[in-house]
Parts: sequence; structure tokens; C-alpha cells
Amino acid sequence: MNNVNVIEHPLIQHKISLLRDVTTGSKEFRELVSETAMLICYESLRTLPVKEVDVQTPLGIAKTKVLSGSKLAIVPMLRGGLGMVDGITRLVPAAKVGHIGTFRDPETTNAVDYYCKLPFDTADRDVILADIMLATGVTANKAIQLVKDAGAKSVKFICIIANPEGIAAIEKAHPDVQIYCGAIDEGLNDQHYIVPGLGDAGYRMFGTK
Ligand code: URA
Repeated sequence: MNNVNVIEHPLIQHKISLLRDVTTGSKEFRELVSETAMLICYESLRTLPVKEVDVQTPLGIAKTKVLSGSKLAIVPMLRGGLGMVDGITRLVPAAKVGHIGTFRDPETTNAVDYYCKLPFDTADRDVILADIMLATGVTANKAIQLVKDAGAKSVKFICIIANPEGIAAIEKAHPDVQIYCGAIDEGLNDQHYIVPGLGDAGYRMFGTK
């Protein structure tokens, strides 16, 4: 699992424990998803390129640094990823936001994409794909392919909980994509939910199946 970065910061681990808790209600769940996404994204952007600039302070010239790399696009995967956008865009307010909707066809086990709206200039941007759970990796791989087809300069995949099957699937199909998560759980049950996981992320966030 060379491309996986598990962010073990105590604040992230604490928030994930609350997210897992079956007694946590939707309002708190949404707040925690946003906060946890922001913290994981913060770590994922540690390697953003910077350049030196001179800034006039009230007392002199400071040699300091500003971001110098490509622009970013945040692409949440429907529905879970929607809850991560607010936290991530607080860190990078200039980022554009796309949306991708996919599902895994239970008959064929292939991913079907039903919605894809990406920034017109995706080819000039580094893309952060966001979903709460990385389960089989089938839909994640489809989304990665869609943003690559749009010309993304690079792709990172951010999730809150991953599992070995999903990680292996991304590493096989897209070895160039770095994965950032807060936890790697045991595996999947026969309905493709992560165990122990946190349940159905969409349901817990929005209260609808
Ligand atoms: N999607 C979810 O909402 N939960 C899982 O455990 C896996 C995928």
C-alpha cells in the first residue's frame, strides 16, 4: 500500500470515533465530516509548491512565501463527498468545485456514471477527489478516470475511511494517485459496506436511504 497516507493526527482520530458512533445524529455527523475532511485535506496539501516573495510589513521587508503551483479543483463524489466540500474550500477558497455521481451496478459490478460536471479548465488544475468512504474502489476508479479524461494535471483521492480492497483497486488502476484517509478498516461485508466503518454515509448525513 505504497500510495496511501493515513493521517493519524489525534484530532482526526477523535472526530472519526464520533463519526463511527451509532448515536451521533445527522447534524453532528455533517459537522464532523466537514471538519475531518478539512484536516485530512490540510495534510494532503503539505507538498504544495511555494515561491519566495518580498512583503512590505509596517516595520520592514519580509522574505516570505506564497503558493505558486497550479490551481485546484475539488470534486466531491455524490452523495457523501458533498459533506466534505465546505471544510476543504475553507482551506482553498479559490478552488473550483466539480461534481461526479457514479454507482456500482450490482449485476455487472461495473461503475456507471450518471452525473459529471467539471470545471471547464480542469486541464489546468490539480484535482482533489473527495468521498467519505473508499469501499470497493470501483466508483472511485471511474471518477478518477473521468477527471483524467478531462485533462487534470494530477489527482489526489481524499476519504475519511478506506479499506484494503478499495486501496488495492486504486493502486492497480491508477498507481499515480495518492490516497489520503484517516483510517483503514478491516474490509467489506457482503453488501460492500466497510466494517466496522460508520454505516451508510449518505443516510447518516442526510437521513435518506
Ligand atoms: N458507502 C457507505 O456509505 N458506507 C460504506 O461503508 C461503504 C460505502
